[in-house]
Amino acid sequence: MPEACAPFNNGWRCRLRCDNYLALTQRMRTFPQVFISSALTLTMLCSAGCKKSSSGGGPENSAVPARQFLVGMSQCNLGEPWRVQMNADIQAAAAKYPELKIIFKDAQNDTLKQRAQVEEFVSQKVDLLLISPKEAQPLTEPVAKAMDAGIPVIVLDRRLLGDKYTCFIGADNKKIGKAAGQWVVKTLGGKGNVVELMGLQTSTPGQDRHTGFLEGIADSNTKIIFSADMKWLEPEARMEMESALSRFDRIDLVFSHNDPGAHGAYLAARAAGREKEMKFVGIDGLPQEGVAYVQQGILDATFVYPTGGAEAVESAWKILHGEAVPKELVLGTRLFDKSTVGQGGIEIK
Ligand code: FRU
Repeated sequence: MPEACAPFNNGWRCRLRCDNYLALTQRMRTFPQVFISSALTLTMLCSAGCKKSSSGGGPENSAVPARQFLVGMSQCNLGEPWRVQMNADIQAAAAKYPELKIIFKDAQNDTLKQRAQVEEFVSQKVDLLLISPKEAQPLTEPVAKAMDAGIPVIVLDRRLLGDKYTCFIGADNKKIGKAAGQWVVKTLGGKGNVVELMGLQTSTPGQDRHTGFLEGIADSNTKIIFSADMKWLEPEARMEMESALSRFDRIDLVFSHNDPGAHGAYLAARAAGREKEMKFVGIDGLPQEGVAYVQQGILDATFVYPTGGAEAVESAWKILHGEAVPKELVLGTRLFDKSTVGQGGIEIK
């Protein structure tokens, strides 16, 4: 076996010995006496070597992968820049781990398609599943089935119902919503008419950003005069904003649960010649989107919603190597408004 003698690290040599061990144990079933002593020797070699490879085999040691792990990534859509960024973050982080082969599927904002794609990953027997689900309830069952099939699952950004998953990674949407509410109260001096354009209400960030926002504006005279579910979509937000504009003569601020929605609202107001009458606040804070809008004076504020792509890959690697990961990994956020955009925003505590 020439590869076994190659001058690579212990992990590589160990793998070959373990492979031999597996073949040997199979043949042992047929010829037990002949193989028993060699098997014992290989067992000792394998357990010593395998331990070494799993504790010491970080990404820096993985130029030559000891084995390839198949990771399925189910992305709920790629229609928004934030999701394109999440996949790019996953891809960039995975480049440091040659052991991980990531297969991406785009559910095109279709819950049934996403359910089917999760089921495909399960029948394909991926080693680990990453999912950023479109909606909580309908994706809970297929993920639970993946777990039942022994596939660890990392849920990103939007939550499922219950806790049948290995690890959840995402920012605290209630906290972001509350910070947005407090920013609005401060900026409008404690009173004013607000339009709230909400993210899909069957997805948890939409629900949590709304609850948080209500908390943030409580104890003030800030009034939500119009609210609608724009389903995270810019054209939908623009349409809803057109109705708000036609119904209300005085709108002081639009709070949209994401930057595409805030941009859609801005476009509607500009088309009506009313964009200077009001402020626009969004969430996501991508450098090329929300932050750029603040720099250009289109939005007045945005809150960063980190994609968690890099953290997902790191956690996947740990899970696949038997290391413990926290059940919840909560990511931070930053505020970018006119006064902080020049200094890279400020952290929200
Ligand atoms: C993208 C997106 C983001 C938003 C996130 C919430 O699909 O709408 O704009 O912050 O999903 O899950």
